[in-house]
Amino acid sequence: MTGTQESVLLDGISELTTNDEANGGRVTDAALVIEGDRIAWVGAAGTAPAADRKIAVDGRAVLPGWVDSHTHMVFAGDRTAEFEARMAGQPYSAGGINVTVQATRAASDSDLEANIERLVAEARRGGTTTIETKTGYGLTVVDEVRAAHVARRYADAVTFLGAHVVPEDQDPVDYLELVTGAMLDAVAPLVSAVDAFCETGAFDESATRRVLETARARGLARRLHGNQLGHGPGVQLAVEYGALSVDHVGFLADDDIDALASSWVEGMRGTVATVLPACDLSTKMPLAPARRLLDAGAVVAIASNCNPGTSFTTSMAFCVATAVLQMGMSVREAVRAATLGGAIALGMHTDGWLDPRGAPQLAVGVLRAGARADLQILDAPSVAHLAYRPAVPLTHAVWKAGIREI
Ligand code: NIG
Repeated sequence: MTGTQESVLLDGISELTTNDEANGGRVTDAALVIEGDRIAWVGAAGTAPAADRKIAVDGRAVLPGWVDSHTHMVFAGDRTAEFEARMAGQPYSAGGINVTVQATRAASDSDLEANIERLVAEARRGGTTTIETKTGYGLTVVDEVRAAHVARRYADAVTFLGAHVVPEDQDPVDYLELVTGAMLDAVAPLVSAVDAFCETGAFDESATRRVLETARARGLARRLHGNQLGHGPGVQLAVEYGALSVDHVGFLADDDIDALASSWVEGMRGTVATVLPACDLSTKMPLAPARRLLDAGAVVAIASNCNPGTSFTTSMAFCVATAVLQMGMSVREAVRAATLGGAIALGMHTDGWLDPRGAPQLAVGVLRAGARADLQILDAPSVAHLAYRPAVPLTHAVWKAGIREI
């Protein structure tokens, strides 16, 4: 290549998942060139331009790094006992969140940092190159600001989730005032979106409206936890307020599915339906109706929802395997949802999105010339092996922004 930065040719790729319509989303018997922080070239093996260095991929599959668009990684404490009780038949309720809130408030910044650092490293070893994480276990102005600062050091996108639950011993009306007032004022400069948990035991329709309304009025992106534990207004509110995504979506009426699919018509940016398979399993809830969503034309993302209560995993590969084995998604649909789908949910699928330091970034979730070089090599000849060989650690190598990290 002719650029001033080092170029690296990955040669001998058996199957390259690009998510690029220009080549049908996939090239077999392929090669790819990385130059600096970006992809410089993608095409058929044997036709690649010369590069400074060549890596023989030896018939392995290459795909974008996972884009994990929903996690709660700033926390302290342990909820193993709650998990075991659930496995013994206890139902999940939003109340467990306050257990983590107490532990998080009591933890030092360095404890919180050590925890998220470990989880991000674990995710990277599993092929994840982009991570969104939320505040939401602080729930005081000081602790939410603290969580946002910690998150900014380790995540690619930070979401304010002051509206997670009403903290114990706090009046719901006063708390809503705080979360849409002084707390939002303090956290807004540190985050790229605002989220709320619209659910029985958390925030009802009118409180959720107020959170979304305030976020929109301040020009902040919106997301929502919706329809997790039962049917409810979450999906409709997310679409009405132009949320980037509504996540969980386990209980969907036909109208909810229509609203999500229709949000994408006529070139308009719509609301992504983010399914969280590991959370559905760990809370013994029905798996989200991903097949119905896809058949209706909705845009679907898959995320890990890594958190200590409902989904203590960073493994996107596990989520992809579950989506294929139990949710009716094809392997290619699931891989797309866990890469490009997550990028769309975060607004990172086109160039120019801002990282937490305010630096403009190249598109992620797609492997085409000009996109950020975020990719993984599997120790397998095709992505089908992610479901064909579930729970086998197949990550062979990982690049983020052109730097090999694994
Ligand atoms: O996405 N639904 C709300 N928030 C988390 C649960 C967090 C917890 O129980 O600690 C979730 O599942």
